[in-house]
Amino acid sequence: MVDHVIETEHLKMIYPGGLEAVKDLSIKVRRGEVFGFLGPNGAGKTTALNMMVGLLKPTKGRTLIDGEEVKPWSRTVKEKIGIVPQETILWENLTCTENLMLLANLYEVPKEEGQARTARLLEELQLADKADARAKALSGGMKRRLNLAMGLVNEPDVILLDEPSPGLDPQTRRVLWEYIADLPKKGHTLILTTHDMDEADYLSDRVAIIDNGELLVLDEPRKLKASVGEGDVLELAFDEGADLQKAAEDFTSLGYIISANVTAGRVVIRTKDAMSRLPEVFEFVKEHDSEIRDVRYRGNTLEDVFIDLTGRALRDGD
Ligand SMILES: Nc1ncnc2c1ncn2[C@@H]1O[C@H](COP(=O)(O)OP(=O)(O)OP(=O)(O)O)[C@@H](O)[C@H]1O
Ligand SMILES: [Mg+2]
Repeated sequence: MVDHVIETEHLKMIYPGGLEAVKDLSIKVRRGEVFGFLGPNGAGKTTALNMMVGLLKPTKGRTLIDGEEVKPWSRTVKEKIGIVPQETILWENLTCTENLMLLANLYEVPKEEGQARTARLLEELQLADKADARAKALSGGMKRRLNLAMGLVNEPDVILLDEPSPGLDPQTRRVLWEYIADLPKKGHTLILTTHDMDEADYLSDRVAIIDNGELLVLDEPRKLKASVGEGDVLELAFDEGADLQKAAEDFTSLGYIISANVTAGRVVIRTKDAMSRLPEVFEFVKEHDSEIRDVRYRGNTLEDVFIDLTGRALRDGD
């Protein structure tokens, strides 16, 4: 039998003013997994998380943690859940150590134990040399890591990470990803939200894709990517002024092309054994008096899954 640590039943949130931010969310999070919510800005991810931990009262539905219903500020939540909110929240005038100790105190962690955890977390998140620096003197990426440490100081069974890594440089992001990926081995269950398909793919055992408050699919990233179709993908950029729609239609008529469409200013074609088809693709474009400026080769991504489901791109600004 699968052991579920969190279960939501028909969660719904209608904000004052009438906006339905979460429509009917029923999910079961398995103990020890990394469960990802992937969706664009405004999809309802933060709203869903806040309802799950009792920070926001659902319009309808409920959440169970270890079979017990979540009530606002209940002891269950305090003992079992750690939250790393989307907006970094710190006491700017306190040092890193003081921030962590203050939180340990709130969670009623015995002092010596709190000190030990504080030192260990600062070490693990590569902040040990900033232990005595005030939070306001940290860089954005350091603040984000301190915030993560603060969410872990009560050693919760379940950790909710609302957008773990926006604004981090790629290297810091990697360090954070490795750290997050290791947390289940230490006995934690993780729920994270992100609008970054790579992050969701890399970290999650299972991904729930949500859009406009609705759960669209829920499965392992590998299975979701396989569901989009066979073949690899070539993304073609053309010179300005080219008729991309027409190019996509022309490609569709070729036998070896599985599908072709226009996404984010590129013609995206799916074909088996794409690399070996490249010369033919170039030749075909040339015959149509056009020129390819850039080619990207890749396998399926969760972005493809999102586009397949919604007809829109997930990435901001595209
Ligand atoms: N307190 C609020 N009152 C009214 N509407 C709200 C409130 N908070 C969020 N919303 C709206 O609910 C919808 C979902 O917002 P939410 O913050 O849950 O999205 P999100 O998926 O977390 O987005 P992001 O990726 O930008 O963090 C949005 O349309 C937002 O404007
Ligand atoms: Mg959010």
